[in-house]
Amino acid sequence: MAVKNIERTRNFCIIAHIDHGKSTLADRMLDLTEAVAERDRMDQILDTMELERERGITIKAQAVRLLHKREDGDWMLNLIDTPGHVDFTYEVSRAIAACEGALLVVDASQGIQAQTLANLYLAMEQDLEIIPVLNKIDLPVADVPAATEELVELLGVDEGEILKISAKTGEGVLEVLNTIVDKVPPPATSGEQTRALVFDSYYDPYRGVVSLARLFDGELSKGDTVQAMGSEEEFELLEVGCYSPKPTALPTLRPGEVGYIIAGLKDIEALRVGDTVTRTKDPAQEPLPGYAEVLPTVFCGLYPTVGDEFERLRDALSKLQLNDASLFYEPENSRMGFGFRSGFLGLLHMEIVQERLEREFGLDLIASSPSVKYEVETNGETIEVTNPSDLPEDFDEIREPMVRATIICPKEHVGAVMGLCHEKRGTSVGMEYLSPKRVQLTYDMPLGEVITDFFDALKSRTKGYASYDYDRLGYEAADLVKVEVLVSGDPVEALSIIVHRDKAYHRGRALVEKLKELIPRQNFEVPVQAAVGRRIIARETVRAYRKDVTAKCYGGDISRKKKLLEQQKKGKRRMKQVGSVEIPQEAFLAALRI
Ligand code: GTP
Repeated sequence: MAVKNIERTRNFCIIAHIDHGKSTLADRMLDLTEAVAERDRMDQILDTMELERERGITIKAQAVRLLHKREDGDWMLNLIDTPGHVDFTYEVSRAIAACEGALLVVDASQGIQAQTLANLYLAMEQDLEIIPVLNKIDLPVADVPAATEELVELLGVDEGEILKISAKTGEGVLEVLNTIVDKVPPPATSGEQTRALVFDSYYDPYRGVVSLARLFDGELSKGDTVQAMGSEEEFELLEVGCYSPKPTALPTLRPGEVGYIIAGLKDIEALRVGDTVTRTKDPAQEPLPGYAEVLPTVFCGLYPTVGDEFERLRDALSKLQLNDASLFYEPENSRMGFGFRSGFLGLLHMEIVQERLEREFGLDLIASSPSVKYEVETNGETIEVTNPSDLPEDFDEIREPMVRATIICPKEHVGAVMGLCHEKRGTSVGMEYLSPKRVQLTYDMPLGEVITDFFDALKSRTKGYASYDYDRLGYEAADLVKVEVLVSGDPVEALSIIVHRDKAYHRGRALVEKLKELIPRQNFEVPVQAAVGRRIIARETVRAYRKDVTAKCYGGDISRKKKLLEQQKKGKRRMKQVGSVEIPQEAFLAALRI
């Protein structure tokens, strides 16, 4: 690419609430700048992971270089795509640290939503130039005047500064590119020694660790000997380059640029996301500010359905962790066998990790009932409990993590939202009108209540019109108890949950009813019980069933027999033998859906 001048470089990201059209807008920009050859064109080209394309969501931030040609010359635009879901906010904050500007995309039919605000605040903290963009103006249900008013109110800008576009038809997208050039400041560099911020990395089976980096000062070239300032590891750069959008090797990454660096590393610890890379010859004195460590909020046990895949699971987790620093895991041994206690940023993150482990690494896994992390005072010491089965029988105090939730909804749904927050043990902190029609509610709630079905319930009670986001607060003491589940009289630790005492009976009852539906019939009767301490609070029975389906086909029809056995095998997938009973994956997630 011909642009060499830092004054002609612009680094920007797109921030938005989920589904407001970031990826579609990125596609249109790629079209307009002819970064992608016609034959390679595919919808949502930046969502490279198969899983992302299937789910239609962006999981990992991506960086792509665009060449914008205008009458006044060529401009190099580095676009960093970010995910919008609440579980992945930390990815957004990383992308933001590598940019000078942000497009704030708002769906004109929906207006400002909870993650619009959360992401905007992150961008403002980093002093990014914010360019407001109203998207989807082609939709018949778009209410452009109302959404414009909300943005004017929120940002204190003139109406004329708000770009009105359709990422679908392409209307207004050229103006977005021009506004980036005109409004976003060029990268500032100090002329000091080389410093590059690693804002993302992933593992490529052929090339080892690939790191995405933003050059703040100096240059990085192929063949340079460099050093990670955090880990103090030294290595040689085998390749540097950029995505346009295919990986393209370059001789040098210049000050202000965004691109990738490859050092042939196999060890993820050597170059972590958030670390600063400098040159060994003439190194920088101070590293760039890194990122606050992200802490997992939801934990579960991950077990291979077949016992001997433990080591493969360990290897797969360590590879995924490279790509995803927020993933936590440590070995765990229970009646489920050998597995890993794993920590995630939320339930969606947990589901995605499980799916990636199965698809990309060919593993077959069972996840135990998810839980948050509790603090427990017992025998004069404080312990952390992420596995409900580790909760001691006697303790002095248990504290649960709290969050401050922000919910935005149309005013006619305020009553329904307040009712739901109350059921979830929330305390109201405030209420504010964003516009005459829409309200922002703030509640303090236990995280444990939010991670269950809160989001689904919020959507269904507001006909899909509410959005929410949350920030973590500290811990608060509460009257919590462990509800244990016994299958055939044996406790199944992986099904235990920790709940408020007032809800224990109701949740235990609902849980065994659900398990009765989910646990397949066996050759024998299977009692399913819920207990608090030694007291049984609910019981159901899974009735016996003749399991051997081939008993039905007497005579020698071998092909029919094979087919039936095949079916039986399929039905067996994602089951875990616990004691004498096989329990399916859905059973472990049942506690979330009641
Ligand atoms: P995440 O990456 O999951 O956060 O979503 P996103 O913000 O990238 O949204 P995406 O680009 O995937 O768009 C969401 C949906 O809106 C898709 O079905 C798009 O086709 C649609 N969409 C995006 N822009 C427009 C637009 O301008 N008009 C219309 N009618 N639909 C649009």
